[in-house]
Amino acid sequence: MPTLVIVGSQWGDEGKGKITDYLAEKAEVVVRYQGGNNAGHTVEKDGTQYKLHLVPSGILYPEKICIIGNGVVLDPGSLIDEINTLKEQGVSVENLKISDRAHIVLPYHIKLDELEEVAKGKNDIGTTKRGIGPCYMDKSERIGIRVCDLLKPEVFKNKLKLNVEKKNKIFREVYDAGELNFEEIYEKYSRYASIIKSYVVDTTSLLYDLIKDGKKVLFEGAQGTLLDIDLGTYPYVTASHPISGGVTVGAGVGPTMINDVIGVVKAYTTRVGKGPFPTELFDDYGNFLREKGHEYGTTTGRPRRCGWLDAVILSFSVKVSGIRTFALTKLDTLTGLDKIKICTGYRFNGEIIKDFPASLEDLAMCEPIYEEFDGWNENISNIRKFQDLPLNAQKYVKRIEELTGINASIISVGPGREETIVREELMS
Ligand code: GDP
Ligand code: IMO
Ligand code: MG
Repeated sequence: MPTLVIVGSQWGDEGKGKITDYLAEKAEVVVRYQGGNNAGHTVEKDGTQYKLHLVPSGILYPEKICIIGNGVVLDPGSLIDEINTLKEQGVSVENLKISDRAHIVLPYHIKLDELEEVAKGKNDIGTTKRGIGPCYMDKSERIGIRVCDLLKPEVFKNKLKLNVEKKNKIFREVYDAGELNFEEIYEKYSRYASIIKSYVVDTTSLLYDLIKDGKKVLFEGAQGTLLDIDLGTYPYVTASHPISGGVTVGAGVGPTMINDVIGVVKAYTTRVGKGPFPTELFDDYGNFLREKGHEYGTTTGRPRRCGWLDAVILSFSVKVSGIRTFALTKLDTLTGLDKIKICTGYRFNGEIIKDFPASLEDLAMCEPIYEEFDGWNENISNIRKFQDLPLNAQKYVKRIEELTGINASIISVGPGREETIVREELMS
C-alpha cells in the first residue's frame, strides 16, 4: 500500500528508527509529523550508528525525500547540528524538506521547560528539557513563531520582541530567574534562518502531489502511544500526538490518504521519565534488559526503566491507532533469559481488567497478571526465517499475536538493517 504510518506502541524507544530505515528502502518519501528533538532514533547501517532527532530516518538513502512536517516543533540550532553531523558521516541531506508551518523552538521554551520541571519538584514529568511542551503551549496560545515567520526578518523581529518581553516577565515574576536578551536571540536565529532557508517549502502541497502521483510514503512517528497528550498516561506525556491520527494534522494529509498502520512493539517494555509503569522490574531481570538492550536514552542518556511486555498496553495501542500489523523489535535482547513474562491483564479492586485505565491513580493500583514462558539461549541475530527461530521464541511471538489479535509482519533480531525477519512485504 502506498502510504504507511509507523507508530510507537508503548512509551517510545521501540525501535521506530530502525523499522523506518528498513521500510524506507521501498518508499520514496519519509515524513516526521510530530514531536521535536525530544525524539532520539538510532539507525545502524554497515556497523555505523546514526542518531536522528529531527531528521526523518529515511535520510540514509540519498534519493528519498525526507519531510519535517508542520506538526513538528523545530529547534533550528539542533537541526543544523544534526545536518552537520550527518554530512560529516557522509550522508547527503539534499532531499530534506522543512514545512513552512512548523513551529520554532526558542531559547525561552527551553528555559521554561527547565524552570517548570524544577518548580514541580517531586511531581516533575521528567521531560527531555528540549522546550517541547512550552513550544506547543505557545502554538495553542497562538503566539508561536513559525518557520515562515522566521524567514521574514521584520515579522520575526516583531513576534520575537513580544514573546521575549512576555517570557522575561514570567521569568522575573513567577520564577525569580534571569532574563533572556532579545538581540542575542534575534541575531542567532536570523543566522539559523539563512542556513535552513533552502530546505523550506510548503510540505503539505508537496505531499499531496506526491501521494496523488502514487509515490510510496512512510510517516515516521516519534515517541509512543502512551506519551500521546490525549490518549497517553496524562500528565506524564509529551505535548503532541504520536498516535496515527497525528499524521492528519501534523503532516496535513487527510485520513482518506492513509492506507496502513504498523505499530512498533519492543519485545519488552521501557519508559524514560516519570509516571506509573505496571510491569516495571526492579530486580535482576530489569537490569538484564537494561544492560543487554543498551536501554539508555539516545537524547538524554538517562537509564530507561525496564519491564515485561504488557499486552494491555498493546491492545490499547491497536485500538487508538488502528494498528493493522506490528513490527516486533529487540527479540534478540531476550536471549539468555530462563523465563520471560507477558502481562495479559490487570488485577484492580479484586477484578480482572483488560482495558488500560484513564486514571493514573487507578493505574498505580493495577497489579499485572502474568503468563510465563520458557526462554531460549541460541543467538538469533543471524536468523532470517520465522520457522528457524528457537521454538520458545516462536511461541512467545505467537502468543503476542493472539493477545493483540494482529500479526507480526516484521521481527527485528538486531539493530542492523539486515537483522530482520520479514513475514509480510509492506510498501509493495
Ligand atoms: P526509537 O526512538 O523508537 O527509534 O528507538 P531508539 O532508537 O531510541 O531505541 C532503540 C535502540 O535499539 C536503538 O539503539 C536501535 O539501534 C536498537 N535496536 C532496534 N532494533 C533492535 C533489535 O531488534 N535488536 C537490538 N539488539 N537492537 C535494536
Ligand atoms: P522517541 O521518539 C521516550 C518522554 C520524556 C518524558 C515525556 C515528556 O525516541 O521514542 P518532553 O520532553 O517530550 O516534554 O517529555 O516524554 N519522551 C520520550 N520517551 N522516547 C522518546 O522519543 C521521548 N520523547 C519524550 O522522557 O517522560
Ligand atoms: Mg528513541
